[in-house]
Amino acid sequence: MHKNTILVVDDLRTSIQILTYLLEDEYNVLHAMSGKEALQILEKKQVDLIILDILMPEMDGYEVCKQIQENILTTKIPIIFITELDSQDAEIDALSIGAVDFISKPFSNILVKARVKTHIVLQNEIRENRQKDIQLINQSRNAQMGEIINIIAHHWRQPLSVISSTLMDIQMKSELDHFDFSDKEEVEKYASYINNRLTRVSATVDTLSTTIDDFMSFYKPKQVKSLIKIETILNRVLSIVNYIFKDEGIEIIKEYDTKKELEVYENELMQAILNIVKNAQDNFLSKNIQNPCIKISLKDNCISIYDNGGGIPQDIILNIFNPYFSTKDEKNGTGLGLYMSKIIIEKYHDGRISVENVDDGSCFHIEL
Ligand SMILES: Nc1ncnc2c1ncn2[C@@H]1O[C@H](COP(=O)(O)OP(=O)(O)O)[C@@H](O)[C@H]1O
Ligand SMILES: [Mg+2]
Repeated sequence: MHKNTILVVDDLRTSIQILTYLLEDEYNVLHAMSGKEALQILEKKQVDLIILDILMPEMDGYEVCKQIQENILTTKIPIIFITELDSQDAEIDALSIGAVDFISKPFSNILVKARVKTHIVLQNEIRENRQKDIQLINQSRNAQMGEIINIIAHHWRQPLSVISSTLMDIQMKSELDHFDFSDKEEVEKYASYINNRLTRVSATVDTLSTTIDDFMSFYKPKQVKSLIKIETILNRVLSIVNYIFKDEGIEIIKEYDTKKELEVYENELMQAILNIVKNAQDNFLSKNIQNPCIKISLKDNCISIYDNGGGIPQDIILNIFNPYFSTKDEKNGTGLGLYMSKIIIEKYHDGRISVENVDDGSCFHIEL
């Protein structure tokens, strides 16, 4: 039978021993004697519940709790604080930073077992649901990867041909032209020629490596929230789609009204926004919209993405955030994009995503 894993973090060996003795029949019990050790264990092991002492040298329980919550891989693990601090203040502090429960020492064995059980049962239910979410997010990310690889292939053709023709030019010049390197003027002319060509190649290589950077930063799940201007995220998304949009005559209007920084999961947020703008693009193509335009506005904590693609039919607008809902054929749509966007915005960021039809198109609102 599957045994859940509990991590006990306490700098007192006796506490660890007692808790281990109490819980080891029903659970795998891991232990750490410091916050640092606990975080190391969490990097390697899947843990379902953490019992965390507050008073510890170096890093106290509150700090450990904060770091656990900042990591996307561990943020949802329930934490029970356990401490000799027998005051209501400590309990309120603990619960207010997101602990699920609080037990004061000395504790009753039965009480500890009962509370642990309650949270483990809850956690098992939540985990089942989350695994489904993660599967869907991965599935959707993979679909987007395919699209992005197409974009990159398209994007790279032109710079690669610049590089190749420049190199060919240099090669021909060195083979066909006969330089007299004893003539100072000729040496200078040759040097300046080479210099000019190399600058061109190097600028082109820079463009290529920027695409790779954008692409990689998108692909690698960040796992930790970072403080970043939303503007930067929007611009990164646009730099990925820029080329294709230009080719297809899609106009982009940016109206950024804030430089505020927010704590977000960068790549996940990029993924959500990329999907929204790609949806607009797909819709332009399928309806053959003239003068297609996407307007992205940013105000306070709100991103609005408007397109003039005719909007979303009323009879489906309530369904578009459902998993696997798509009006595209199988090759072009998974129906997971908006569902995933909703999870990313609402579950990971405690935000809101909504859509409305306006004038001649649709408008997605993201509140962070
Ligand atoms: N900007 C838009 N204009 C018109 N329809 C849209 C727009 N964005 C989304 N939709 C509709 O919502 C559906 C679901 O989108 P999504 O969840 O991203 O899945 P997919 O793109 O794989 O179909 C799309 O198939 C489309 O019918
Ligand atoms: Mg989509």
